[in-house]
Amino acid sequence: MKKLLVLTGGGDCPGLNAVIRAIVKSATLDGGWEVYGSKEAFNGVISDPVDIVRLSSNEVGGIHVKGGTIIKTTNKGNPLAYPVKNDHGEIEMKDISGTLVEKIKKLNFDAVINIGGDGSQKISQKLFEKGLNIVGVPKTIDNDLSATDLTFGFTTAVQIASDAFDKLVTTASSHHRVMILEVMGRDAGWIALHTAISGGAEICLIPEIPFDLNEVLTKINQRYDQGKGFVNIVIAEGARAINQEQIGKIDQYSEHIKLGGVGNTLRKQLEDMGCEPEIRVAILGHIQRGGTPMAFDRILATAMGKASFDLVKNQQFGQMVCLKNNTISSASLKEATEDYNFVNLDHYLIKTARAIGISFGD
Ligand code: F6P
Repeated sequence: MKKLLVLTGGGDCPGLNAVIRAIVKSATLDGGWEVYGSKEAFNGVISDPVDIVRLSSNEVGGIHVKGGTIIKTTNKGNPLAYPVKNDHGEIEMKDISGTLVEKIKKLNFDAVINIGGDGSQKISQKLFEKGLNIVGVPKTIDNDLSATDLTFGFTTAVQIASDAFDKLVTTASSHHRVMILEVMGRDAGWIALHTAISGGAEICLIPEIPFDLNEVLTKINQRYDQGKGFVNIVIAEGARAINQEQIGKIDQYSEHIKLGGVGNTLRKQLEDMGCEPEIRVAILGHIQRGGTPMAFDRILATAMGKASFDLVKNQQFGQMVCLKNNTISSASLKEATEDYNFVNLDHYLIKTARAIGISFGD
């Protein structure tokens, strides 16, 4: 029997379990394969003793409808910059990737499937360069991987954000208020853009377009002058005003700052500028990452899981599964992690939004 190791890395995302199930089912039905899951990304392999579980068809029955990941995940397990305590009790980042590859080989794994986002697939590429038989499955609610037209989880996140937005519209209208909905989106504003169009926002603020606070205030005032009586704003957590930094906290275990709070900063700045209507803020946060994946995401995740097993079976290592032009295919991990899927300012949804009067604060 050949041994296949599966892991989920980075932030979780609706659809991860559907990928795991599809891999286990495809490999089991194909015959000749035993599938294992490393708990919390590569931490299950790195830890001593290892935390690796056997995944058979029984373990994965019915999990495609569940949020989260049955093999857990972490964004603190980068083997290229692994947090290790030094003799003074301080955290130091060490590259332990060589030892990791050796350990995976010693454990007799023939191949690895890494289900993860941009950061995880950069790790996959490095491990591939070090001789590991690895393939990637793209995962992120942010939809920020350029090699694939869509990532599973994104559609569910947009639906959750859109439902929240709809609820805020009615309360904004009742109170004649400005409501700000802060959604996820570190460097790419896809969730905010889709939510703004789906919900009918007046203002949409995304990381790709630094906003002018005066423009935002002007747009708010125009709405009230027109007698509309309320304003709904959707802002991505990674958005920032011109000449200002992203809002968040430093995380000693991560290379990224922990974003969050830009909605409240925007409220305060607008109030300081004399915005007359009352402003309230709702931060959606991790609600967007949890719960049942929508049917579309379950289907995409299942197709990607199956395709990743095909790559393993055909020994096409160093590849990442992707969805391009309505077909499941693959791209090299190198190519897949070179460019980031920013919202292109010529994108048809940016043009659509502008055409129907949504302001980007520019
Ligand atoms: O990458 C997906 C994402 O949802 C980002 O939008 C967000 O900044 C990040 O994960 C938050 O991750 P966590 O709070 O789990 O560290």
